Amino acid sequence: MLSPIAVVPRRSLLYMPGANARALEKAQGLDCDTIIFDLEDAVAPDSKALARSQVLAALASHHYGHRELIVRCNGLDTPWGQDDLEAFANSPIDGLLFPKIESQDQVAAIKSLLQTCGSMLPLWLMIETPTAVLRLEEFGGDEEVAALVMGTSDLVKELRAQHSPVRHNLAYALQRCVLTARMLGKEIFDGVHLDFRNLPELRDACEAGRAMGFDGKTLIHPDQVPIANEVFGYSPEAVAQAEAILEVWQEALAQGKGVAELDGRLIENLHAHEAQRVVAFGQALRRRG
Ligand code: COA
Ligand code: MG
Repeated sequence: MLSPIAVVPRRSLLYMPGANARALEKAQGLDCDTIIFDLEDAVAPDSKALARSQVLAALASHHYGHRELIVRCNGLDTPWGQDDLEAFANSPIDGLLFPKIESQDQVAAIKSLLQTCGSMLPLWLMIETPTAVLRLEEFGGDEEVAALVMGTSDLVKELRAQHSPVRHNLAYALQRCVLTARMLGKEIFDGVHLDFRNLPELRDACEAGRAMGFDGKTLIHPDQVPIANEVFGYSPEAVAQAEAILEVWQEALAQGKGVAELDGRLIENLHAHEAQRVVAFGQALRRRG
């Protein structure tokens, strides 16, 4: 028997500036899997307090339905980080995302503050510096860490590299982070595509990220959501095929066999596991209605 697995679809993770009331409103009707309310890069220093209070007010009055809710705080080494953490530590969200993490000491400092607040929120970490990429295995595996998010805009800046649509220049860094994330058993999401009106280019970037192993893509504009959902999701045909694989696999197991056949193709343990993931993914989306 295959043991049951839980899958949370996180194909599309949309950032929105916490100071942008229209975006906070509009997000209630967007088809993204995850909303990342941003208090950091997308908010000017003079608007930090406003963004914090607007996001808190939106959480209290808006209806975000099935969407997973994450707040990106400012770093604890800034004048706003601790206030952000304390403001959201016990709010109705699904996680707190922290920027520019490079060490276990930083993770421990965040955990200790969360503990002081009595918070049980999962921790998400931004990987956006060369040190973070090279040392991810030293801090990314912490048990409180639920997910890792590439910050490719900052990474390009820190590398003194250049933005290129195909990102061959980032391939090593990106793939290394996916490798490490898989070793640590963590989900990992690709960075944003800044040229947000260029949707064919976004599709190429999503496909490249999907092929590398990323679980989803962070986004900055509503028009990007359907493409990420498509590329990081599974078509109805793929779900039906996975269901068929699971069926022949269960039959084979019941007959004490270790392999099965479907339409002339060999089905082994690994295919059954992948099919199980796809079926669970489809079921999770269907449960949302
Ligand atoms: N989340 C929710 N809604 C958004 C949105 C977002 N990230 N970006 C734009 N919208 C809304 C706009 O408010 C507008 O709504 P309306 O027409 O129904 O009133 C609609 O989508 C169309 O927006 P558009 O006019 O095409 O873009 P814009 O000029 O308003 O905004 C950006 C462009 C890039 C400034 C904006 O998309 C943005 O701020 N994105 C997020 C940036 C961010 O969070 N960066 C930090 C992480 S890298
Ligand atoms: Mg950043």
